[in-house]
Amino acid sequence: MNATAEWLDLTGKTALITGSAHGIGKAIAETLQTAGATVIVSDINEELVQETAAALGAESLPLDVSNEEMVDKAIADIIARHGALDIAVNNAGVYNGFGGPLVEMETDRWRGLMSVNLDGVFYCCRAEARAMIDAGKGGRIINVASTQAVTPGVGVNYDGSKAAVTQMTKTMALELAKHKINVNALAPGATWVQDFPEPPIDPSAVPAHSGQPLNDQVASRISRIPMERWGTPDEVGKAALFLCSSMSEYITGVYLPVDGGWLTL
Ligand SMILES: NC(=O)c1ccc[n+]([C@@H]2O[C@H](COP(=O)([O-])OP(=O)(O)OC[C@H]3O[C@@H](n4cnc5c(N)ncnc54)[C@H](O)[C@@H]3O)[C@@H](O)[C@H]2O)c1
Repeated sequence: MNATAEWLDLTGKTALITGSAHGIGKAIAETLQTAGATVIVSDINEELVQETAAALGAESLPLDVSNEEMVDKAIADIIARHGALDIAVNNAGVYNGFGGPLVEMETDRWRGLMSVNLDGVFYCCRAEARAMIDAGKGGRIINVASTQAVTPGVGVNYDGSKAAVTQMTKTMALELAKHKINVNALAPGATWVQDFPEPPIDPSAVPAHSGQPLNDQVASRISRIPMERWGTPDEVGKAALFLCSSMSEYITGVYLPVDGGWLTL
């Protein structure tokens, strides 16, 4: 193996990716597995998580990240089976059907999103960090935030949850550095996660509330992305690999946009 391949090699590492039955999480799982990691595909969707894990030849773990007890048990089980958890990517998140204007936002819609995007990240990070500290081998934690952490538009719940995850990431990086645990945030921009059809080039082709990855308000911004296209899950996967690899050993607490230049505007 040449030196550069070695820098990215994850052989011998155990990696948990939440919300990885589909979309960005699935691409991260595929990328980390390609780099040699033993990948645990985890998701609330029990049927799809089995299907995705089987297709990868990876371990499948049904898990609702908003359930504190389930999260603690899942991490304990991983330690029992694998001895350690080296990499954790907290990717599970919801947005479709959850955003919308403040004045129309029911409390259930606020809490529903926060329980996954915010509580879920807290439960997972806490359990993962405890396990990594106990094992004494250091580790990598990546939280999947969003460009919405710094640009508003989807809704107070979604944008607020991602801003909080970004700040929590910095606090955790500060606290965990002495344990050799790097904690970083990935911030995808508009990323096409539908299985069909091709990403629309004309943003007006994305109808409002169509179940597409972004609502109409955000979709209208696609035309302003400097690279003039949607991102792909695979591109987020490659950035995740960088943050899991020895290439980023001295990087912690960063917010890394993968957004085709969106945040330059
Ligand atoms: N797609 C984008 O444009 C975009 C942009 C910025 C950030 N993100 C973030 O990326 C992450 C992945 O989004 P995606 O676009 O791949 O979405 P997706 O809907 O394709 O995948 C999300 C996965 O999370 C799972 N999930 C939902 N609730 C869960 C829970 N309580 N516990 C465990 N798993 C759960 C879903 O079943 C699904 O498989 C999210 O955190 C999202 O906020 C996405």
